[in-house]
Amino acid sequence: MIIKVNIDRRKQSYRLHIEKGLINKAGVLIKRAGRPDRAIILTNSKVKRSWLAPLTKSLESQGIDFRVISLPDGEKYKNIDSYEKIIGRMIAEKIDRRAILITLGGGVIGDLGGFVAATYKRGIRLVHIPTSLVAQVDASIGGKTALDTAEGKNMIGAYYNPEMVLTDPDILTTLDERQFRNGLFEIIKIALVYDRRLFDYISRNLGKIAGRDNHSALRIVSRAAGDKAKIVTTDPYEENLRMILNFGHTLGHALETANEYRGLSHGEAVGYGMLLALHLSRRLNIYRAAGGNEPDGLIKSLLQRCESLNFNPAGLWKIICNDKKAVNGEVRFVLLEDIARPLIREISKSQFSEALKGLCGKK
Ligand SMILES: NC(=O)c1ccc[n+]([C@@H]2O[C@H](COP(=O)([O-])OP(=O)(O)OC[C@H]3O[C@@H](n4cnc5c(N)ncnc54)[C@H](O)[C@@H]3O)[C@@H](O)[C@H]2O)c1
Ligand SMILES: [Zn+2]
Repeated sequence: MIIKVNIDRRKQSYRLHIEKGLINKAGVLIKRAGRPDRAIILTNSKVKRSWLAPLTKSLESQGIDFRVISLPDGEKYKNIDSYEKIIGRMIAEKIDRRAILITLGGGVIGDLGGFVAATYKRGIRLVHIPTSLVAQVDASIGGKTALDTAEGKNMIGAYYNPEMVLTDPDILTTLDERQFRNGLFEIIKIALVYDRRLFDYISRNLGKIAGRDNHSALRIVSRAAGDKAKIVTTDPYEENLRMILNFGHTLGHALETANEYRGLSHGEAVGYGMLLALHLSRRLNIYRAAGGNEPDGLIKSLLQRCESLNFNPAGLWKIICNDKKAVNGEVRFVLLEDIARPLIREISKSQFSEALKGLCGKK
């Protein structure tokens, strides 16, 4: 399957290839797009164990010279220190503007490598090979690149699009359960705001999906990645439509901050955020879904117990107001009229606190 992502009214576009076993064809596809002077593969210590060899074999088969830069695993390495080290290494290796940077990893490697490619000698070619479910359906699509600073996540960054994204669902076979579920929450998010058919498919096949059935993985990855590609094609710089992708993220980010990024993953935090958005939508008589397939049960079935988490409404509201710029004491939330019918509403502190009650522990 090939999905075309158009940016800037069709002046610039790139392709998203999704296919089982695609990593073995990376060399052919890269060479076809224009033989690079050299390839730099940016990866991490964990992903490298299983997936570096097939990639380098594929590059070698096409006579593409490469260097590997591997970082330790973790979000804490998505920072200026790693950025400087990578750039330093590239300068030492005399990498010039005809080189190509290949990111082989999850969102951390993709965001960091994307920023390196955007800025090294004012920009070099970039190919993403996303290896986590989050990266395959979300981070590799849309051109956002980033570094974290001590002050917060994604404080530095640029929009910079790859020339192609190579998505191989087979790579997900080595992903652990928690990371897989993390991506599943983002897929449910996109289904809820944009794609009823995907939502219905997930509801009907959750057992198979959670059981890591290959065919279902290919199906949900292709569909969710295609949805995100359509959204970012319509709104590349997050001026309107792309905002719906923040569904569940307003509370989600606040929960991560309040819990100091411990005890819950980003996906789980977004899971709680989506439940809150559904509560709010019902309490405000916005949600008018015609019965049947309610999303709450699906989301709750993927969440862990949360009694030990900080769900303090006043504290969370304060964090949200810091994050989001409150206007007249109200903050914008993405809510739902129905599945695939999002809408943005200003929410007050009391509406937020009421809706938050009972969110945690209600399974
Ligand atoms: N640019 C965007 O639009 C965008 C969107 C969403 C998230 N992000 C960013 O992406 C990051 C989160 O992405 P993530 O969840 O992929 O995090 P990650 O890159 O840290 O990957 C999660 C974990 O899975 C491991 N992993 C990845 N692929 C694997 C595989 N195939 N087999 C075994 N282990 C594997 C990683 O080593 C890591 O331990 C955050 O920094 C976030 O800000 C960016
Ligand atoms: Zn997210």
